[in-house]
This record gives sequence, C-alpha cells and structure tokens, in this order.
Amino acid sequence: MKTLIAYFSAENGTTARAAKEAAELLGADLYEIAPEQPYTAADLNWKNPLARCNREKFGGKDVPVVGRIENFDDYGAVLIGFPIWYACAPNVVNTFCQGYNWYGKKIAAFATSGGSGIGKTADKLRPFVSGGELLGARLIHSGAELADWAKEIL
Ligand SMILES: Cc1cc2nc3c(=O)[nH]c(=O)nc-3n(C[C@H](O)[C@H](O)[C@H](O)COP(=O)(O)O)c2cc1C
Repeated sequence: MKTLIAYFSAENGTTARAAKEAAELLGADLYEIAPEQPYTAADLNWKNPLARCNREKFGGKDVPVVGRIENFDDYGAVLIGFPIWYACAPNVVNTFCQGYNWYGKKIAAFATSGGSGIGKTADKLRPFVSGGELLGARLIHSGAELADWAKEIL
C-alpha cells in the first residue's frame, strides 16, 4: 500500500521543506494540512497573550481545515508532520486527524522545533488517531533524516 506524508507548516516552511524532500526520497504522496483561515504573522505571535495561536491553544479549540483526502483508504502508512507548538502538535493537526478513520494504518509523527525536544508529542497525538498504530514521534532536521527513519520503522 502507499505511504502518505501529511504535514502542516506555518512559520518559515521548515516542516514543509523536510516533508517534500522525504516524499521524493520515499516515493510517497504529499498533502498539506491547511487551516480554513490561514495564519498571519500576528496570529503566530505567541508573545501576545491575545494572539490567535494562544487563544486556540489555551481555549482548546478545534481549527477547521480546508479540503479532504478522498483516497485516504489507499494509504497503509501515514507520516504526520508539524512544527512543535507549546511542546506538542498544533491544534489544527489534531482537528485534521479527527476527520479520518485510522483503523489499520501505521502512523509516525515527525516535527521541527525552535529547540524543544519531541517530549510527549506521541502520547498527546494518540487519542486523535485511535484505531491506528502510532509507531513513534521524532524531531527531524532534514528530509533525508525523515526518510531514513521512515524506512526503519514503517
Ligand atoms: C505558536 C508557536 C508556538 C511554538 N512553540 C514552540 C515550542 O514549544 N518549542 C519550540 O522549540 N518551538 C516552538 N515554536 C517554534 C517552531 O516549532 C519552529 O520554528 C518550527 O520549526 C517552525 O516550522 P514551520 O516553519 O514549518 O512552521 C513555536 C512556534 C509558534 C508559531
């Protein structure tokens, strides 16, 4: 079965670059997780307590996503990528995950960060991909590193 790399990237495209490079190396399909309302720089300014990112995080809000993966059943493995926000996955990634049936799929989460480790990211993501087998989560620094790890664990 095919492998999908579904990623969210907001600030500098760091996660997007790694996801694209790994998709080429693995021959995987690529899907961008995008919020219905794109993030502006002001939305991402976590230093402002009233910024959208803080309201979403601390309000525990769902973040509606654009579009839908119609052929999701074709994929046996899904790599889910995102920047670490507040030491775990951004809410938009959780909302995306809730929209699909993960039963029988192998899943691995990967992230980029400003310095934090991967922490409890896998445990926090697990409830949103129930039915699937979440094999682990890893902080990555390049698409090549991601592709190597995917080959090891999937
Ligand atoms: C709202 C917000 C929260 C963040 N929280 C963290 C954090 O807890 N730890 C960390 O190391 N970096 C944090 N960062 C930095 C991003 O994880 C990092 O810059 C990431 O590589 C950006 O990837 P992107 O360009 O694909 O969006 C945060 C960034 C934003 C915008």
